[in-house]
Amino acid sequence: METRVLAPGDEGIAAAAEAIRRKGTVAFPTETVYGLGADALSARAVARVFAAKERPRFDPVIVHVAEPSAVELLWTEVPPLAQELIDRFWPGPLTLVLPRRRRVPPIVTAGLPTVGVRMPAHPVALELIREAGRPIAAPSANRFGRLSPTHHEDVLDQLNGRVDVVIAGGPTPVGIESTVVSLVEDVPVVLRPGGTPLEALRECVPNLRMAPPSGPSASPGTLARHYVPATPLLLLERGPAPAGGEPVERRACGFLAYQEGWTGFGRVEVLSPSGDLVEAGARFFAALHRLDRAGLSAIVAEPLPEEGLGVAMMDRLRRAATGKAYVGEELVWRVR
Ligand code: TXA
Ligand code: MG
Repeated sequence: METRVLAPGDEGIAAAAEAIRRKGTVAFPTETVYGLGADALSARAVARVFAAKERPRFDPVIVHVAEPSAVELLWTEVPPLAQELIDRFWPGPLTLVLPRRRRVPPIVTAGLPTVGVRMPAHPVALELIREAGRPIAAPSANRFGRLSPTHHEDVLDQLNGRVDVVIAGGPTPVGIESTVVSLVEDVPVVLRPGGTPLEALRECVPNLRMAPPSGPSASPGTLARHYVPATPLLLLERGPAPAGGEPVERRACGFLAYQEGWTGFGRVEVLSPSGDLVEAGARFFAALHRLDRAGLSAIVAEPLPEEGLGVAMMDRLRRAATGKAYVGEELVWRVR
């Protein structure tokens, strides 16, 4: 199929909305990452999203709305806590999971009795949903298990020829996927840390719990291996290397740094010279993409502070990592 790349102006958005109404697939920018969208109320349309991504059917998709009141179409009920979180955090990177109405096709929810919904804080996404006149189901616009795209060029790299439309909206401002919170049980559970910091959520929800890292109750997007670059990713450990490590030349490795001060690597990507986790979030996936494309033997990632957006970035790094790295003067020791 031929993929049309459209500018994010009125004309492009109108054509993209028309593609959605005709049950086509449209990659569009949100404040977090690019989504690959289709008519959320059409099983046939959503099936084409799964096919383009090669995504297994057990992974549910988030439904995007352009105004808070649209949740009434999707959820059987809007409990007071949901309303409170919506009032405070929408539009924004927060997905809420609640029991679904029957009109939401099972393919959207992977057969679950619940559906995740969010209202994105991006003018192009909101305009697209409004013009399409229906909620849009959209996972991140990457092949299954690969890095999430934070620029339309990353979308084209992975999905050119596999989707009907890509809206060329440039870089996405937040850069990390939404925080997913289930309100199905009495105690709210974070299924995936993301662009809405847990500290902010806890102000409204003091009894918020974290889901176990994986297992049946966890969110499918929390599969232990996920978000992987093609180049092996190693988490930096401090201190002397233990015996049994595999040596790799330092200049054959890339380095994902939080702040400056790392030299001798083939390529260094600094997430935030001033140590700002919001800035780091906006650059996170793009930096990983660049390192992944640089033809390196391995990528060494420095752990980030686990607060604010750092929690979500560390979650993605741990899932992507295939081992640990100890950095010496000229060599990096790779340990599984
Ligand atoms: O920021 C984002 O969330 C982006 C943009 C495009 O909105 N979307 C995104 O979608 O990251 P995706 O499909 O890559 O991740 C959505 C994850 C699923 O893998 C699953 O973990 C969780 O959200 N999810 C969605 N619906 C759910 C449900 N009904 N129950 C449990 N988890 C659900
Ligand atoms: Mg994804």
